[in-house]
Amino acid sequence: MARKILISIFRSFLIGCYVLPLSIQYLFQTQVKKENIYILAIESSCDDTSAAVMCNTTRLSNVVATQKIHEEYGGVVPELASRAHQQNIVPVVHQALDKANIDKKQLSAIAFTRGPGLMGSLLVGTSFAKSMALGLQIPLIEVNHMQAHILAHFIEEEGSESPSFPFLALTISGGHTQVVLVKDYLDMEVLGETLDDAVGEAFDKSAKILGLPYPGGPLVDKYARLGNPDAFQFPKPKVEGLNFSFSGLKTSVLYFIQRERKKDPDFVETHLNDICASIQKTIVNILMDKLKAAVKQTGITQVAIGGGVSANSGIRKALQEAEEDYGWKTYIPKFEYCTDNAAMIGIVGYLKYRMGDFSDQSITARARYVIG
Ligand code: KG4
Ligand code: ZN
Repeated sequence: MARKILISIFRSFLIGCYVLPLSIQYLFQTQVKKENIYILAIESSCDDTSAAVMCNTTRLSNVVATQKIHEEYGGVVPELASRAHQQNIVPVVHQALDKANIDKKQLSAIAFTRGPGLMGSLLVGTSFAKSMALGLQIPLIEVNHMQAHILAHFIEEEGSESPSFPFLALTISGGHTQVVLVKDYLDMEVLGETLDDAVGEAFDKSAKILGLPYPGGPLVDKYARLGNPDAFQFPKPKVEGLNFSFSGLKTSVLYFIQRERKKDPDFVETHLNDICASIQKTIVNILMDKLKAAVKQTGITQVAIGGGVSANSGIRKALQEAEEDYGWKTYIPKFEYCTDNAAMIGIVGYLKYRMGDFSDQSITARARYVIG
């Protein structure tokens, strides 16, 4: 009798340990396959407050409130960014739901940027996402911002194609410059990165030296299109392996402008287009040299770019030319998905939802959050 009781306890234990979790997982997966998944995504890592609604891999809405306040200061002021996120987040989320024509009760989960980024900014999105997920009793999904820049290529769009694994990704933004080997959706390895300034900073700081407002990257791009890229020469850094360095370029631009202004006080105004074109050409060459080295090292010829600087016309053109010149297959995001936006957080949210990769309420923001 005692033996029978023991066997039945053991059976229940086995069922509890193995059969139940497997069946729950099975139920979860079949349900996920059948139903549409609606993810509300929130991005607040720097100076853009953004919310998006995804239906599976399709973007239903993607609202971005860009904070203008930083223009006066020539760069992002963390405390002001955090306050602006607090003001923007509720209306931005409402707009995203309205535009998607989705009621919050229909949401399957909430995804948010956990990091990397400015701590004060991240905290706003993180706290908001946690509270909303708790209130609605739906899963919470944390997302790495840099992974999201790469996985934005998997947002389904008419006429767009997604890379297949493995591929190389060049992430170029105001805070990062990395060459990443992407083995699978969430299996990535950083092969090289900047040792000092990010490429976006190189654009913005050069622009500041030229007296252009923040963020100067898009303006350098605009003037560069009208100028001669061979007008002036700037040195390229010598950095080992697949790492980058941009602080030297900024200094050489500064000294060059100081020198030329002594001879001609109107030098910048007269030669703005040529200066911008020459700076942009140098930056694009630095990026392309490292990409070529990464292709050589890995033998992978599928190359995707992501991050704010991927909006730059110079790098976009250089990549398109690389298709013909070197036989690469390149992936360039739509402008909407280049700079910070919540749709890219939403696609990662969807992928993690399918994997059942959820976070609990104890999760906190991470200012430094490496891919890998
Ligand atoms: O990814 P992002 O929106 O924010 C960060 O995560 O940093 O990138 C912003 C950066 C800024 O440095 C901005 O100047 C740069 O991207 N950027 C550009 C262009 N559009 C944005 N840089 C060069 N050319 C552009 N067209
Ligand atoms: Zn970014």
